[in-house]
Amino acid sequence: MDISLDLIWETLPFPAFVIAADDTIMRANMAAEPLAQTSNAHMKGKLLSKYFGQNSIILDTLKQARDQVSSVTQYGVDVATATRREMSCNLYVTFLDAHAGAILLILQPTGVAQKMSQSMTHITAARSVSAMAATLAHEIRNPLAGISGAAQLLAMNADSEDEKLAEMIEQEAKRIGMLVDRVEQFGDQRPTNRAAVNIHTVLERAVTAAQAGYGAHVTIHKDFDPSLPDAAGEFDPLMQVFQNLIKNASEAVGDQAGAIRLRTSYVSGMKFSMVGGKTESLPLQIEVSDNGKGIPDSLINEIFEPFVSSKVNGTGLGLSLVSKIIAGHGGLIECDSEDGRTRFVVRLPVWTDEKVG
Ligand SMILES: Nc1ncnc2c1ncn2[C@@H]1O[C@H](COP(=O)(O)OP(=O)(O)OP(=O)(O)O)[C@@H](O)[C@H]1O
Ligand SMILES: [Mg+2]
Repeated sequence: MDISLDLIWETLPFPAFVIAADDTIMRANMAAEPLAQTSNAHMKGKLLSKYFGQNSIILDTLKQARDQVSSVTQYGVDVATATRREMSCNLYVTFLDAHAGAILLILQPTGVAQKMSQSMTHITAARSVSAMAATLAHEIRNPLAGISGAAQLLAMNADSEDEKLAEMIEQEAKRIGMLVDRVEQFGDQRPTNRAAVNIHTVLERAVTAAQAGYGAHVTIHKDFDPSLPDAAGEFDPLMQVFQNLIKNASEAVGDQAGAIRLRTSYVSGMKFSMVGGKTESLPLQIEVSDNGKGIPDSLINEIFEPFVSSKVNGTGLGLSLVSKIIAGHGGLIECDSEDGRTRFVVRLPVWTDEKVG
């Protein structure tokens, strides 16, 4: 099989550029497009500073390489891009042609690597909980049905004082039942049955559900890209994902001026290596942001773990379930939070007919 260098260049999972002596872009690959928010054809001939700013550490690194006439590597630097405010990455700068001054620049986002390994940990955590969950659910359900039935019988013959207590037993038993249902979903090892899913329909339904209950006090802004193609996914689990994210956001914002923003966009060139060495293109981006109190610093690295909660009545299962469902779709979820702004970004694959079967 003949593999062209062009193909290798375009398949590189990291943003890469060939830079001329005057700091103009001679070539950029597909993975560089999301950073510059434009096509690689468009970047050709433009100054690098147009996309990364005049004071970018990238320009300093290029200068350093030119001054020393040698390769330079910078680890864990923060680079401002045309899209995001800052991205933590490693920079690799190497001469391709020392005489003409052409330089190869590769950006390896460290945030993504860390987040990827984090989501892999969640898969393992969810797996170990699965086995326990199935046993626990089974063992709890039977006695619970007994408790609930007995409470109903007691209520029938009780005076009003005792009737209240009997009702309370029944209600609490119901709550345990719901918790068991939720825990049991971890035991669900069924593979995701992918089909074409309109993400906007999912989001609209999740919003309707929210505004009828837990999100009644919040303003929900919708910033949808109308040309967004269908996702490859399963409707009900995806609905659960966005319901959980909107519920958390609703619980985080105050009663006044609480706002949630749902944003969808198509970001080309987002490719990720998944378990088993497969590369998955995840161009559908769905953001759920809120202006609430933010995630406590002590929890930020653990929120996707099961049973991690800062809420009095929280099970801490919402986000671990979300993470399990997204992983089952071959997608990714990331989160960043600071006081007054929390954002969850879900990335999903697009539906194509080849995925049938
Ligand atoms: N939008 C958000 N803003 C602030 N903190 C959040 C947000 N989303 C999640 N968190 C934090 O992450 C924790 C875990 O969330 P998760 O949904 O897993 O559980 P929970 O909401 O506490 O419980 P449950 O989902 O069972 O009601 C929350 O307790 C909260 O501290
Ligand atoms: Mg929750």
